[in-house]
Amino acid sequence: MIAVEHVKKSFGKQSVLKDVSLEIDDGDVVVILGPSGSGKTTLLRCINFLERADEGNLLIINERIDLHSAKRKEILNVRKRVAFVFQNYGLFANKTALQNITEGLIVSRKVPKDEANKKGEEILEWVGLLDKKDYYPSQLSGGQQQRIGIARAVALDPELILFDEPTSALDPELVGDVLSLIRKVAKKGIPMVIVTHEMSFAQEVANKVVFMDGGVIVEQGTPKDIFYHPKEERTKKFLERVLIQEKEIYYI
Ligand SMILES: Nc1ncnc2c1ncn2[C@@H]1O[C@H](COP(=O)(O)OP(=O)(O)OP(=O)(O)O)[C@@H](O)[C@H]1O
Ligand SMILES: [Mg+2]
Repeated sequence: MIAVEHVKKSFGKQSVLKDVSLEIDDGDVVVILGPSGSGKTTLLRCINFLERADEGNLLIINERIDLHSAKRKEILNVRKRVAFVFQNYGLFANKTALQNITEGLIVSRKVPKDEANKKGEEILEWVGLLDKKDYYPSQLSGGQQQRIGIARAVALDPELILFDEPTSALDPELVGDVLSLIRKVAKKGIPMVIVTHEMSFAQEVANKVVFMDGGVIVEQGTPKDIFYHPKEERTKKFLERVLIQEKEIYYI
């Protein structure tokens, strides 16, 4: 089991995370929903030390890591085990698709280059992009770049993958391929936390849905609990708003 315990984070006087705790069980796909500014990205970034929490712990396979005061060695340890998929792909512009995937294997995992290349090619095939292995990010579509971003995460055999709005920078026609790939990753059983505004995808892929607002987890439960029987007024209002927006998009 993985758990995030009592995470707090302020930027100046603004308290952005107010004691957030979350459990991620083996094979869980946790989807985090919530309005803009509710602290979703900050929470993911604190888990992976892209941001320093003011307080809180990460419990990962019987190891408790202090998210505020962890030292460099512990941070590198977490980054080896927890992969991050960014909204804007986060690929190295000066490296090819294959090199983007093998870099982490060679540098942080110390995998010999030949072996890393072999694994990289296998993963590229798995995501359907082996024919693009020598392309640079600028020569790939947004959807292809994000599939490389996901391939890079999976290549590291992580214990957890964090996705921050993985499809929100994509043109609508490219979203489907990326969502299919995320479904395929979920089937591998790697625990995942996904921040997304794709409501129907969230309902289908998640086994746990978390609703955040104002730096707290307002409510969590199964997709059925949250989408069909939300208890909290704030959850109901949010869902009404986003589901109406989705309908408006579909009916245009
Ligand atoms: N580096 C920073 N410096 C100052 N304030 C920040 C910083 N990062 C985030 N914030 C603030 O923290 C709050 C939460 O931001 P966060 O990005 O976590 O929200 P979010 O839930 O991911 O929103 P969105 O759905 O728009 O991505 C916002 O008010 C934001 O302005
Ligand atoms: Mg965000």
